[in-house]
Amino acid sequence: MAQEVVFDLCVVGAGPGGYVAALRAAEHGMTVAIIDARQTPGGVCLNEGCIPSKALLDSSEFYQLVRDKAAHHGVLVDGVGLDLKGMMTRKQDVVQRLTDGISFLFKKQKVVSITATVTEITKTEAGFDLLTTDPLYPKIAATKVLLATGSRPVELPVAPFDGERIVSSTQALSLNQVPSHLVVIGGGYIGLELGSVWKRLGSAVTVIEALPRIIANSDTSMSATIQRSLKKQGMVIKTSTRLESVDLQADRIVLRTVFNDVCEEIQCDCLLVAVGRKPNTEGLGLSVLGVNVNAQGRIDVDNDFMTSVEGLYAIGDIVPGPMLAHKASEEALVCIERMVGNAVLDVRYDLIPGVVYTWPEGASVGLTEEQLKASGRSYRKGSSSVIANGRAKAMDEHEGQVVLLADDATGELLGMHIVAPRASEMIAEGVAALRFKATVHDIGFLFHAHPSLSEVIKEAALTMIADR
Ligand code: NAI
Repeated sequence: MAQEVVFDLCVVGAGPGGYVAALRAAEHGMTVAIIDARQTPGGVCLNEGCIPSKALLDSSEFYQLVRDKAAHHGVLVDGVGLDLKGMMTRKQDVVQRLTDGISFLFKKQKVVSITATVTEITKTEAGFDLLTTDPLYPKIAATKVLLATGSRPVELPVAPFDGERIVSSTQALSLNQVPSHLVVIGGGYIGLELGSVWKRLGSAVTVIEALPRIIANSDTSMSATIQRSLKKQGMVIKTSTRLESVDLQADRIVLRTVFNDVCEEIQCDCLLVAVGRKPNTEGLGLSVLGVNVNAQGRIDVDNDFMTSVEGLYAIGDIVPGPMLAHKASEEALVCIERMVGNAVLDVRYDLIPGVVYTWPEGASVGLTEEQLKASGRSYRKGSSSVIANGRAKAMDEHEGQVVLLADDATGELLGMHIVAPRASEMIAEGVAALRFKATVHDIGFLFHAHPSLSEVIKEAALTMIADR
């Protein structure tokens, strides 16, 4: 009888946590299998999240620029129109090129990629057995297992997804017509990004947010500026507002919302529910294995990302921390390096940048002013506006600012909060500055190319050291 193959590592889930881990482990010489129920690797991020949403954000931005701004730049375009099908095809093409790239890397690194659902994981003498739905690989044996199964959208009991009129973030990336009125429940990352896409493509968009402000855990400077900007673009944003009921009628959806005990009826033709995501930890037999799952459904892990079961690891959305692709990938790298015995630094959870890809974009890293106030620590604050920046003027962009927060005594940077065009690129400077404990003096006297948007960061730092 043929000897059973025992992989050094079996990764469950091929998203930005799982595929990064699988490739890194293979680079270190481990034999690796990766299992995912999806046909294509890349998880939610590549297939139905970060990448397709950015493809649509870029396309819709392009459409809006040509429609609304080209003439101002002296570019005359006749008959601007929308080919939604063409836009969706381009989005799929972007996704496919990236997922093909990962499949190519799997082949190159000899990672065995299996399309199947894992139905059970059991402990064995060699490590683990994973039962799968693939008839070719019904059982995979591995010394170590890494879970990277990600998360899925939370459903509201009053508004269950039907995929056509009440949609999740995934479904809102593939609507086959532009809604007349899209109502978005949840003023977080997904709600504002997808709301922006459909607003630019012609929908009336109303955002309903239960909390007093949108992107509620960001610095107030950021959420206030983005809210003002989105309102100026025509988005209706209703904060401190609760969704009470949803009535699906033949020709419309009738929503009842409550603000300050006052009821309002809103009619729309499409409802996007974007109220957060929940971890995929069910169906793997984790409780039988003895894996500790906390009250939020997240798996507790130690510094090496090992669960309460020896040899079983977990990373990404299923472990505590923000549900972000770059957080999962970072955990993947550190987990594998530790697994092969390399001494690497811990994942710096205090330095995870957050970006909301509205226009202008919002990006931040480090502590917010609210957190500093709550901690009682003495801090300094400096800011500079995008409106005074030469590159922004050339781009015809006026909105946004950079806010810096620093320790009052030493000037060490504690937080950077940017609203600006391409803030997603600018924030890398903040991550590096915090990582290397830069002061506002360091940033203020650092070369920034002229003209560039990054000069707003330098200007903000200079305002903090002018009188010191
Ligand atoms: P989120 O947690 O960012 O925002 C959800 C919002 O919905 C919150 O502001 C919450 O107060 C509100 N909410 C919850 N229940 C509500 C109700 N019944 N009525 C009205 N408002 C309600 O979650 P989101 O936007 O769904 O994103 C999910 C995850 O995906 C997040 O963890 C986010 O970090 C990640 N993500 C990140 C992106 C990025 O980095 N650019 C883009 C998209 C998603």
